[in-house]
Amino acid sequence: MNNLLVAPSILAADFANLQRDIEMINQSSADWIHFDVMDGNFVPNISFGLPVCEAVNKHAQKPIDVHLMVEHPEWFIEAFQKAGATYITVHYEACAHLHRVIQQIKEAGCHPGVALNPHTPVSVLEDILPDLDMVLIMSVNPGFGGQEFIPRSLKKVEELKQLIKKQNLEVLIEVDGGVNLETGQKLADAGVNVLVAGSFVFKSESPLDTIKALKNVGS
Ligand code: DX5
Ligand code: ZN
Repeated sequence: MNNLLVAPSILAADFANLQRDIEMINQSSADWIHFDVMDGNFVPNISFGLPVCEAVNKHAQKPIDVHLMVEHPEWFIEAFQKAGATYITVHYEACAHLHRVIQQIKEAGCHPGVALNPHTPVSVLEDILPDLDMVLIMSVNPGFGGQEFIPRSLKKVEELKQLIKKQNLEVLIEVDGGVNLETGQKLADAGVNVLVAGSFVFKSESPLDTIKALKNVGS
């Protein structure tokens, strides 16, 4: 049995009822809370940042998985650790000195991850892979929830799995964007460890049942 982790993305939550939605995640079989930070520069949208992470952390009983879709993520690492982050993922495309940023995340006491946009091949991670706890494969172009899954992402997961195996490492593979039961099943079969799901969870009739169904995809 595959221990598939599920991380609901609160980008699709009801921001006026965020405490209620965090408590729903606490009650659910979800493993993490996925927290999407957008700066209106790296991606063409603005979401939320540090004060919202602090507020979420006051109620969250599960680890906060921070996905930084921002330029200069190195400016915000220590602040997100203080705001409650357990995982901090930065974009490969946003870091000229990725190795340094990864060390900074570790020194802050968080687990480092690197995200790849749909156009970025997994081979660029070959030299940094031993320093990582997680790789996030974007299966949509980052910036918005509710987009359609890009099928090529499945191939990338397989390629990444090979790369990890070749180096004998234990790096988690997370996939983010357009995840539902159908794409989730394919991803689980390809060996994904963490499924992020926003709209599929929060726009469903029963987010609790939807989270449970996604967890079951891995069993
Ligand atoms: C997209 C974000 C995702 C987003 C996923 O830029 O990184 O985490 O919330 O949304 P869905 O699951 O609706 O595709
Ligand atoms: Zn995300």
